[in-house]
Amino acid sequence: MGKLRVAIAGSGGIARGAHMRGWQAVADTCDVVACCDVDEKRVKAFATDFKIPGVYTDFRRMLAGEKLDIVDICTPNKFHSPISVAASRAGAHVICEKPLATSTKEVEGMIRAAEKSKRLLMCAQSTRFNGQAQTMKNIVDAGTLGNIYYCRAQAIRRRFVPTAPGFIKKALSGGGPIYDIGVHILDLSYWLMGAPKPVTVSAMMGTFLAKRHDIIGMWGEWDRKMYDVEDFAVGMIRFDNGAALTLECSFLLNMKEHERFATSLFGTEAGANYPELEVHGETNRVLYDQKVSYVPQMSGHVEEIKSFVDSVINNKPVAVPPEQTLQVIRMLEAMYTSAEKKAEVKLR
Ligand SMILES: NC(=O)c1ccc[n+]([C@@H]2O[C@H](COP(=O)([O-])OP(=O)(O)OC[C@H]3O[C@@H](n4cnc5c(N)ncnc54)[C@H](O)[C@@H]3O)[C@@H](O)[C@H]2O)c1
Repeated sequence: MGKLRVAIAGSGGIARGAHMRGWQAVADTCDVVACCDVDEKRVKAFATDFKIPGVYTDFRRMLAGEKLDIVDICTPNKFHSPISVAASRAGAHVICEKPLATSTKEVEGMIRAAEKSKRLLMCAQSTRFNGQAQTMKNIVDAGTLGNIYYCRAQAIRRRFVPTAPGFIKKALSGGGPIYDIGVHILDLSYWLMGAPKPVTVSAMMGTFLAKRHDIIGMWGEWDRKMYDVEDFAVGMIRFDNGAALTLECSFLLNMKEHERFATSLFGTEAGANYPELEVHGETNRVLYDQKVSYVPQMSGHVEEIKSFVDSVINNKPVAVPPEQTLQVIRMLEAMYTSAEKKAEVKLR
């Protein structure tokens, strides 16, 4: 069998800074043969830098002009769904950046198209694949925590607003921090909790600081007029096993640390937190705190691509099941509905 032929859609920050490292790590089995971006100058520079022969400014032309085994989608969120559906129909396996799409309807369409073509679809939830996350999963899977009944997830920043339109303009991003960083910590937490079925969602959110000119951004200035997503959100999700999760997300929050990207799980036997990897419990009336002393150094972005390629080559289910991703998007989407209605939302 020859090498798998891979194409990348979108040649911006994540494609250049993260995904290409992943494709280089699997160069013995995969060749990146094509790339596309609506920005011609950018895609040409990308193709030159990474020696990619096929260069396109339209994904449809790329799909028609190349025989592809895998399409890797790194565009702004709004374009994930149309590119993914077209790539599946063209017979390619799809790995796609987070959030997989901006609505459950889009995700359902992507799953349907992949299933119909008998091709794989995986959301590139890179956080699941890093060393700390894998270690935390091992702690949970060992039964150390007992029955997990509460999870507190936080993706909060003091003054880090992404400046690219793809993150702050709803028409491109689908949402604000909950779709950008919240999706990572929710996906991680949900996976650690064993992916129970979400049944209700209640949320509050708003744009409290992002429109103000007297607020600084540590990544530089953003377009206040363009900014039309929330800058803060908090939600509570109940699951059918009786457990609950709270999620806090923000680009701009008057907090002590510059950033907190963390999740804590609380169970009947012990609690544990990520990324600190501490376990807190009680044995025989003795309270104890344990700290993990070794964490494998693994890049989530590289490992997710290695894992996806392994699934393609060995015909294995993907490590991030699309059905779990669908639930994650369903929970985030319901946070918008709940915040708008100022009421709890029941999920079907
Ligand atoms: N996993 C992570 O940690 C992580 C980090 C950053 C971004 N992301 C995700 O990666 C995606 C891209 O983010 P980024 O930071 O690279 O953004 P970016 O703005 O740097 O790059 C996006 C690129 O897509 C191109 N593009 C826009 N529409 C297109 C289309 N229809 N067809 C082809 N190309 C198109 C743009 O011209 C741009 O070059 C987003 O979905 C984002 O959520 C993930």
